[in-house]
Amino acid sequence: MKSQDIRSTFLNFFEHKKHSIVPSAPMVLKDDPTLMFVNSGMAPFKEFFLGNAQPKHNRLADSQKCLRVSGKHNDLEEVGYDTYHHTLFEMLGNWSFGDYFKKEAIAWAWELLTDTFKIDPDLLYVTVFEGSSDADNLPMDQEAYDFWKALIPEDRILMGNKKDNFWEMGDQGPCGPCSEIHVDIRSAEEKAKVDGKSLVNMDHPQVVEIWNLVFMQYNRKANGSLENLPAKHIDTGMGFERLCMVLQGVQSNYDTDVFTPIIREIETITDKKYTVGVSRDLTEADDGFSAEKINIAIRVISDHVRAVAFSIADSQLPSNTGAGYVIRRILRRAVRYGFTFLDKKEPFIYRLVDVLVNTMGQAFPELKEQRQLVENVIKEEEASFLRTLDQGLVLLDRIIENATSKEISGKKVFELKDTYGFPEDLTDLILRENGLTYNDAEFKNMLKAQQERGKQASQLKSDDWTVLVEDQDQEFIGYDTLEAKVKITKYRKVTSKKDGELYQLVFNMTPFYAEGGGQVGDKGYLEDANGNVVYVIDTKKENNSAVHFTKSLPKHVNETFTASVDQKQRYRTECNHTATHLLHQALREILGIHVEQKGSAVHSKYLRFDFSHFSKLTAQELKDVEDFVNRRIDGKLPFQEQRNIPMQQAIDDGAMALFGEKYGDTVRSVRFGKSIELCGGTHVDNTGDLWHFKIVSEGAVAAGIRRIEAITSDAVKDFYFENNRLYTQMKDLLNNAQEPVKALENLQEENINLKKQLDNLLKEKAKSIKGDLKSELTEINGVKFLAKKLDLDASGIKDVCFEMGSQFTNLFLLFAAEQDGKAILSCYISKELVASKGLNAGTIVRELGNYIQGGGGGQPFFATAGGKHPQGIEAALKAAEGYLK
Ligand code: ALA
Repeated sequence: MKSQDIRSTFLNFFEHKKHSIVPSAPMVLKDDPTLMFVNSGMAPFKEFFLGNAQPKHNRLADSQKCLRVSGKHNDLEEVGYDTYHHTLFEMLGNWSFGDYFKKEAIAWAWELLTDTFKIDPDLLYVTVFEGSSDADNLPMDQEAYDFWKALIPEDRILMGNKKDNFWEMGDQGPCGPCSEIHVDIRSAEEKAKVDGKSLVNMDHPQVVEIWNLVFMQYNRKANGSLENLPAKHIDTGMGFERLCMVLQGVQSNYDTDVFTPIIREIETITDKKYTVGVSRDLTEADDGFSAEKINIAIRVISDHVRAVAFSIADSQLPSNTGAGYVIRRILRRAVRYGFTFLDKKEPFIYRLVDVLVNTMGQAFPELKEQRQLVENVIKEEEASFLRTLDQGLVLLDRIIENATSKEISGKKVFELKDTYGFPEDLTDLILRENGLTYNDAEFKNMLKAQQERGKQASQLKSDDWTVLVEDQDQEFIGYDTLEAKVKITKYRKVTSKKDGELYQLVFNMTPFYAEGGGQVGDKGYLEDANGNVVYVIDTKKENNSAVHFTKSLPKHVNETFTASVDQKQRYRTECNHTATHLLHQALREILGIHVEQKGSAVHSKYLRFDFSHFSKLTAQELKDVEDFVNRRIDGKLPFQEQRNIPMQQAIDDGAMALFGEKYGDTVRSVRFGKSIELCGGTHVDNTGDLWHFKIVSEGAVAAGIRRIEAITSDAVKDFYFENNRLYTQMKDLLNNAQEPVKALENLQEENINLKKQLDNLLKEKAKSIKGDLKSELTEINGVKFLAKKLDLDASGIKDVCFEMGSQFTNLFLLFAAEQDGKAILSCYISKELVASKGLNAGTIVRELGNYIQGGGGGQPFFATAGGKHPQGIEAALKAAEGYLK
C-alpha cells in the first residue's frame, strides 16, 4: 500500500464512522503561551477539550503535522540515530468531544488495524494504565482493560506505568490515562529467541508503539494538581510513518515511500549510498566515515528537510529567536551532518524540496504553493551557515597551531560556539583528527551558565488563576466601542525577570484589542466608582481570552470598572492597519500575485510589512506603490466588514485564501474598495482618515523576503515637518536662493573647479621647489644629502622624493612638513645606498619619529612618520646627518 493510500484509508475509515475530516492545522501555534509547536494531533483542539470552545462536529479525524523538537516532547537528538523517531511527523488521529469514549475508540482502532489494514493480530500488543500511588493517586484503568479483553487474548494486554500510559500535552493542559498499541515486526527467528512482550516500550526498533488512544478526563493546572474536565473525550494519535513501515513490510520508517524518494535524491547529489534496514551499532565505526555515519547523516537530512520546509510553508522562517530559532537549529543540524559525513561543502538541502513537493504536495497544498520561497530560504540559510563553518575552521586552525598542550580549554570551544556559531561536535571531531581534545567539563559548565542566564531572563512564573466569576466566553466589544463597564472574571500574578511583577486580568467583556494579526495590544486604564485608576500597559491573547496586563491589582476586584482604551494610540494603530491592507493590495497589483504576506507589525507609530518577492524594489516601483495607496486614501473608501462568517464564504466573496487557519475558526472579512482581507484587527472608518501614506524604508529580511516600513497620518505630518525644517535650514545656508537645488549644484561645480585649480597650483609649486632643492644638496661621505622642512603635503613630498630620486643613485633625503598642527617626516634613500651602506628609511623614520612624538614606517628606501609635536621637527632634521657620519 502506498503511503498516500494509507493516509486516505485511515481518513475514509473514520468518515464512515461519522467523523468530519479536517485539514491539518498549521504547526506553529498562535495564541498558546504553553506550547511553541503543535506536538500532537490534539494540540489545535485544546480549547475543545478544556470546554472553552465548542466544535461544530463532536467527531473529527485528520492527519496533523506535528513537530517534537522543544518542551515536554522533544525527539531531536534521537533523530537519525534510530529509524523510528522524527522531528516532523504526521499524526493520524480521531477525536470525540464529549461523544463516544473508551469502548468505541478501542473497538474501532482494532477494526481498522486488523480488519481494514489486515495486520496480523499476533503481531500486536496493547498496554493499559496500571494506576499511580503518587500525589495524583490515580486508579488502574479497569474499563479499558475489560474492553480490550473482549477483543484480544489477555496475555497480549500489558500493564503500563504513568510514564508510558498517562498522557499529558505539556506541563499544563488536558490529560488522561491511555492505551497504546505496539507492533512486533521482528523475524520468526528473533521472536523464538526473545518474547515480544518483554520488548514493549524498551526502545526496540522493531517492537514499536504505533497508536496511542488517550482517554481525556483531567486538566493539569499550573500548581500541578488535576481537575476533572467538564466532559470526557477521546484523543488518538497514530504515527503515520510507523504505520507505513508496518504495512509496507519494511524494517525502518526510512525505507517507506515517505522517505525513499528523498533518500534517493540525497544519494544522487552526494554520491553516497544509504543502507536499508535498522541502524547498526556505532561502535563498529572505525575510520570516522563508516557506512553507519553516512546512514545517520542521510536520515538526519531527509528528516530535517521535511520539518524545515513545512515550517517555512507555515510562515515560520528561521530566525534568531523563539520558534524561528528552533527551526534554524534543525536546519543547521542537517547542514552539519552533510558537511561532516557526506562531504557537502556547498548548499544542497534546498534541492530536496522538489522531491518533497512531489510526494507530499497533494496532501499538504501549502507546500506546493510556496515551493519557490521554501527553496530560496533554505538555500540562503545553508549558504550562510556554511560561511560560518568556514570562518570557524580558520579560527580553529589557529587554535590548533597555537596549542601548547594536548587539551584545549573549554572556554575556547565555548567561544567558537557562542560567538561564531561553530558547533562543539565539529570542533571535537577536528581536534581529534589533530590528536587533541578539549576540556568538556569546562565547556559544559559555561554552556549551562549561559542557558541558566537565558532561562532566568525569559522565565514567566505564573500563579493559578483566581476565578471570581465562572465565565468562559469573554466578549470582545472593541470593534464598536472603546469604553465599557466590565467585571473582572479572573486574575493572576505573573513574575518575570524582565518585567518584574505584573497582574493579568480577564474581564467578562472587553473593549481592549489583544495583540494579534500583527496589531499591537491596546493600552488604557480601569477606573472604579471612586475614581481609582489602574493602568493597562498591554493586552495579549491567551487561548480564547484577552489578558490585560497591569502593574497592580485594583483594590476591590469584585467591583464594576470602567475600562477605557487609549484612543489616540488605537486610532493611529488603526490608520496603520488599514494602510497595511492597502499596501498588500498595491504590492500584488504592482509587483505581481506571487507577493504574499510573510509577516506584519502594526504599531501606532509605523507599520512593517514582510512579503515574498525576489528583488529589491526600484525607485519607480516604490513610488507606484505609494501612489496606489494614496489614490485609495484620496478616494475615501469606507470600511466594510462581515463578522463570524465561514472561511468558504469569505473566499467566495473574493478574500485571499490563507493557510494558517485551523478547524473551527470562523473568519471576519474586512473590505476597503477592492481590498478584501481576512482580518481580526481594528480599522479606521474611512481610508481618508489616513491622510497620507509614506514608505520610509525597503530592504531584505531573508532570501526572497522583502520588508517595507511605512507611516501614515500624524507620523507623515511629523516626517514632512522635519523635512521642511531641514530644507529651510539648508536654504538659509544657501543665502535663501530662489532655486536652492540649482544653487547647490552651482556650489558643487564650483567646488570641483577649485579642487582642480588647487591641484594644479600644488604641482607647479612642487616643480619649482624641486629645482631649488637640487641646488641645496650637500655631500657627506659621498652621499648627496638634504634635510629640510617643506611647505607641501605628504603626497607632494613623496612626489619630490621620487622625482629627485630618479636623477641620483646616492641620495639621502629627509623632508618634514607641518600641517594642521601635526608633523610629518619622510625619508628617501637610493636603493643602491640601502644595499651598500645598510641604511633603512623605515628604521630611520621610526627613530626620528621620537622627536615629533609619533611613529611610522614603510620600506627601506622610502618611509614616512607622523607625530603630534611639530616643535620637534628642527631637532629631527639635525639628527638626520648623524646617519651618514
Ligand atoms: N495525544 C496523544 C499522543 O500524542 C494521542 O500520543
